Amino acid sequence: MKQTTDFEKMKSRQEKIAMITAYDYPSGKLSEEAGADIILVGDSLGMVVLGYDSTIPVTVDDMVHHTKAVKRGAKDTFVVTDLPFMSYHISKEETLKAAGRLMQEAGANAVKVEGAGNVLKMIEALTMAGVPVVAHLGLTPQSVGVLGGYKVQGKTAAAAEKLMEDAKKIEEAGAFMLVLECVPYQLSQEISQLLTIPTIGIGAGNGTDGQVLVYHDIIQYGVERVPKFVKTYGDANHLITLSLQKYVGEVKTGQFPQEVHSFSMKQEQLGMLYG
Ligand code: KIV
Ligand code: NA
Repeated sequence: MKQTTDFEKMKSRQEKIAMITAYDYPSGKLSEEAGADIILVGDSLGMVVLGYDSTIPVTVDDMVHHTKAVKRGAKDTFVVTDLPFMSYHISKEETLKAAGRLMQEAGANAVKVEGAGNVLKMIEALTMAGVPVVAHLGLTPQSVGVLGGYKVQGKTAAAAEKLMEDAKKIEEAGAFMLVLECVPYQLSQEISQLLTIPTIGIGAGNGTDGQVLVYHDIIQYGVERVPKFVKTYGDANHLITLSLQKYVGEVKTGQFPQEVHSFSMKQEQLGMLYG
């Protein structure tokens, strides 16, 4: 399994880091088998797995439950788990307790937090306590209510400068990696050059040290429309719908099951059965 320092080495060698989100045993297993360098148990699970319309309702219990399943499927991959909404804002004590559960109960190798500001001291406290931290700037979905929707961030010179300052503070606070979501590619490239720690982009162009996409978006599974920054590499919806419809149809017509799917009794046993 890779270590936090391996990702920094990859950055210095200009070797791109591939991150995939996963939420359960099969998605963890298949992501590991596909060669993902790092798996993120994202709180996006609230939307793509649990059907909420934002990440706000997701709890620490949800993250523990799903991280355990991912770890069972991806035993040899570094797993980062999102600290969910309001689990790292109230106090350092609550933040450390939540992160402790994710690492000790669930087996996460690191946690991810969104934003800078007051979160900087949480990043510092976590790192001091031995919890590796991934930070997340730009479009931070847990703040969707404050941001007023899912919009590109850092488009003005002033906003870009603030983002660069926050990125620098995050590195100083001890985070070992930074996710940049929905920012102009020029800005994420600039931040990636400014920082020693690796950056992972989503909707942030090609100038970051790695990329992350949501599992369900990559394979088009359960999602209807995908955002502009997503590239889909398969059509699981089509495959699943077709397979399920065929099954239902064959049950209705009696085509399934056939003899090969059935078990049989020997003739003599049948004879004894009927006397
Ligand atoms: O929850 C998530 O999937 C994420 C990634 C999009 C970075 O935070
Ligand atoms: Na997230």
